[in-house]
Amino acid sequence: MSAHRLAEQRALWDAEAAAYDDEPDHGLRDPATREAWRQLLAAHLPAAPARVTELGCGTATLSLLVAEAGHHVRGVDLSPQMLGRGLAKVAASGLPVELAEGDAGDPPYAAGSADVVLCRHVLWALPDPGTALERWRGLLTEDGRMVLVEGHWHTGGGLTADATCALLREHVPDLDVRVVPLTDDVYWGGPISDERYLVVAAPA
Ligand SMILES: C[S@@+](CC[C@H](N)C(=O)[O-])C[C@H]1O[C@@H](n2cnc3c(N)ncnc32)[C@H](O)[C@@H]1O
Repeated sequence: MSAHRLAEQRALWDAEAAAYDDEPDHGLRDPATREAWRQLLAAHLPAAPARVTELGCGTATLSLLVAEAGHHVRGVDLSPQMLGRGLAKVAASGLPVELAEGDAGDPPYAAGSADVVLCRHVLWALPDPGTALERWRGLLTEDGRMVLVEGHWHTGGGLTADATCALLREHVPDLDVRVVPLTDDVYWGGPISDERYLVVAAPA
């Protein structure tokens, strides 16, 4: 991502950080919502302990949920304000989640160092999602997987499941792609009228 675009995104997300966790699906403060995400991720991650890298981890809500399940987690985000809130949550949890500042489109990690790349609501906003997916594949071990949560929201933003699958098939053709619709209100704190889903991309 260009330095100008990174700075623009950083400023945008820094401004969102203070209220970010107030949304039910962001902070997962409601026990039913938190439990639904816990079960969803448990169903699509390998057995613990796996090495999970969360890209665009924001306030580290999912990173912590996954760490609580016994995985080794590291996360990267470009917004110091989002990360600051994430770091405070990590410190309070006592869990060994590592957070770093960086570009999810070009993650600062060694090839083959992750069993899972986890990413929620970030792929759609990257300027070159296809190249990002190729780099994410490079982070994975041979039998690693991507677990991506995306949507095509009523605001017009986002990626349809068809578009995400097309990107994956073009840029990481060695992985099989499976879509899990996330239609249940429990994930979002209320009814939704748009398309939300999880995609697992893993070796056949
Ligand atoms: C919608 S929030 C999602 C946060 C987190 N994944 C979650 O599900 O709660 C988008 C996050 O992606 C981060 N982000 C956006 N573009 C990024 C990039 N190129 N590199 C790293 N982080 C990025 C933002 O700073 C923000 O924290």
